[in-house]
Amino acid sequence: MKLKKIFMLTALVTILAGFAKAQTHKSALLQYDKQIDGILSQMTLEEKVNMLHAKHMFISAGVERLGIADMLYADGPFGIREEMQPDSWAGLGWENDKATFFPTGSALAATWSPELAYKYGTGMAKEARLRGKDMLLGPAINIQRIPTGGRTYEYLSEDPYLSSLLSVQYTKGVQDNGVAVCLKHYALNNQENNRGTVNVIIGERAMREIYLSPFRAAVEEADAYGIMPAYNKVNGFWCAENDILLNQILRKEWGFGGMAISDWGGTHSTVGSLNAGLNVEMPTKQFMGQALIDSVIAGKVAEEVVNQRVREILRVRLAIKPIPANEANKEMTSQPRQQKIAYEVACKSIVLLKNEDTLPLKLKNKPVIAVIGANAMQIMGSGGLGAGVKTLYEVTPLEGLKNRIGDKAEIVYAQGYVPVVFTWGRKSPEQLEKEANEKEIKSAELSKEALEVAAKADIILFIGGNNRSVETEGSDRKDIFLPSGQDELIKKIAAVNPNIVTVLTSGAPNDLNVVKPLSKALLISWFNGTEGGNALADVLVGNISPSGRLPFTLPVKLEDSPAYALGNYPQGVKKADVFANLVAETETVDKPKDETAKGNDPNTAYYSEESLVGYRWFDTKKLPVMYPFGYGLTYTTFEYKNLKTDKAKYGKNDVIAVSFDLKNTGKMAADEVVQAYIHRINPSVEWPEKELKAFSRVALNPGESKTVTLEIPVKNLQYWNEKKHAWEDDLCNLELQVGASAGDVILKKEVGLK
Ligand code: BGC
Repeated sequence: MKLKKIFMLTALVTILAGFAKAQTHKSALLQYDKQIDGILSQMTLEEKVNMLHAKHMFISAGVERLGIADMLYADGPFGIREEMQPDSWAGLGWENDKATFFPTGSALAATWSPELAYKYGTGMAKEARLRGKDMLLGPAINIQRIPTGGRTYEYLSEDPYLSSLLSVQYTKGVQDNGVAVCLKHYALNNQENNRGTVNVIIGERAMREIYLSPFRAAVEEADAYGIMPAYNKVNGFWCAENDILLNQILRKEWGFGGMAISDWGGTHSTVGSLNAGLNVEMPTKQFMGQALIDSVIAGKVAEEVVNQRVREILRVRLAIKPIPANEANKEMTSQPRQQKIAYEVACKSIVLLKNEDTLPLKLKNKPVIAVIGANAMQIMGSGGLGAGVKTLYEVTPLEGLKNRIGDKAEIVYAQGYVPVVFTWGRKSPEQLEKEANEKEIKSAELSKEALEVAAKADIILFIGGNNRSVETEGSDRKDIFLPSGQDELIKKIAAVNPNIVTVLTSGAPNDLNVVKPLSKALLISWFNGTEGGNALADVLVGNISPSGRLPFTLPVKLEDSPAYALGNYPQGVKKADVFANLVAETETVDKPKDETAKGNDPNTAYYSEESLVGYRWFDTKKLPVMYPFGYGLTYTTFEYKNLKTDKAKYGKNDVIAVSFDLKNTGKMAADEVVQAYIHRINPSVEWPEKELKAFSRVALNPGESKTVTLEIPVKNLQYWNEKKHAWEDDLCNLELQVGASAGDVILKKEVGLK
């Protein structure tokens, strides 16, 4: 009862706030409105309603009579999904619909390259067009809140600024090439466990500054045409019928002109959804079909609202030209141009965490290289639940090594462990026991074989990590330990041969406590797409210097991360102070962690950590991390010096220009990702210890130096005032911090704001 009251009040306050906002962006889609008036005037109610729900699993209807084509959707976000049966989740089994598998979200983010995000979007759109698709169900841009999150690999980063820049360019890349994006999952779909039932309780400030940021940027700066309301509730309302998120913030405030398509099965009502701003119910017509016609006839919802929802779809339909039948379907498979983009992204995504003079591999004396680990041969384009990519090809790490090393070394392979394999359906206890026994026997055999191979090798490449059965839609991981007993295996290998290079092909954080000290070199090479194996081998042999940077913090242990530390996942403690300014009654919770774990509603996630997500939490709480956000080594060294700003004090509309000299002081060409954080010195409200506000990827040859200038618009430093429900300046002094990661600030300078 009390919680209900909180939700109602929260909603009311935000609704009022929403009305006060001025629109910040004017969508180009509005240009079609005159033409649409004419179309709408010719449509029957049935024809209109017919556009507001699924026609098939990935199609919603147009109006044939009026020459309005159906809308064809495709997953998204890291490769065009295979052709699906009209009304099931099964593929059609075609041979000519094999796509390019692009590195998944966290890999793209690890490039810290908006330019590559644009190219990536271009590549996705080109293949979508080949397949006749109008709307890509991506990019997936939720903030990575919990390290165990099942879809962390699809999402970009824990940081809203990095996520925003990449989302904007990805969106532009797609839409500049004639395909609409569908930003997903709006909003706060930050966990997969209970995603269809969980209610996220969050204060306005954290919601605006952190979680909505990438969505806002993609709408305001790239005019995103589509958005997918998520499965969960936010502050008491389902996302697909959330007036605050859809009408007030998205449309009224940000000026979104396009269409909202429910996540598949995420619609819950007829009148509520339509009024709140939902355009299409997918992949069903339970609520937005006959029930909607009946509601209009009964006077429960105005036909004007139906018209408006149809108008928003028609805008996108008119902006995205359907592929003429004679043009589509000629050559639908993955194309070399896209494979090249996938390769480029993969090359720049690989993060080198540790290197004790081991990499690049020394091949002079034709060493014996033992490649150990199931991930050396694991395909990452598919597996687990959710959209996969039926790839034309996927170069595995082992294949990549063979391609690049040829006969310069002797490569021997041992699988080492039994990987997790996702299977459908429930199994009987007997079956489970039988499988467990078989697995134990198999694991012992594989481990023995790996140790024999390891003992005879000059160097070991342990290629492990998660896979797509471990990181999967629909459920979160229980922990972040390496699966399938990999830690134990590495310990045994180290006892027979300590010359270990470890490569983790994971899309999300792993616990590195065992593997880090036992590895001479350590890399993360992600779910890295069609060309992932070649890119990895290029880095390992030194054809290119690694240049990826962590898009998330690697914690020492899972329990240190904010949502876990506060007991806020999947349910948690509501801190009295979080919502104090939104509601009168706040005394309900703030219980010890243990109690809440037992007693609380598993379907309520309190975000009482507020804005302290990722490094914002670790830095502010002064907690040690395994590797900080933004971290990554190269095969060279860089020197940073001479930090300057163009002024000492900046006004509200100024842009802070921070410049410094960067020199490659080593022996190899490499890219450095320079990062600028700000620390607020005398603020009027609370802030995290530091926030990323600018970055750049700079390529330098050995001995070369450049003056780098990073720009920080002062308006990007505003905070969301929860009392006024508005963005506001906090004109305090700032310490500008420039360096190579959140944990490695090299240059500092204080400036003022006026
Ligand atoms: C996922 C979406 C996806 C949709 C269609 C849902 O289960 O959450 O990301 O686009 O299915 O495949």
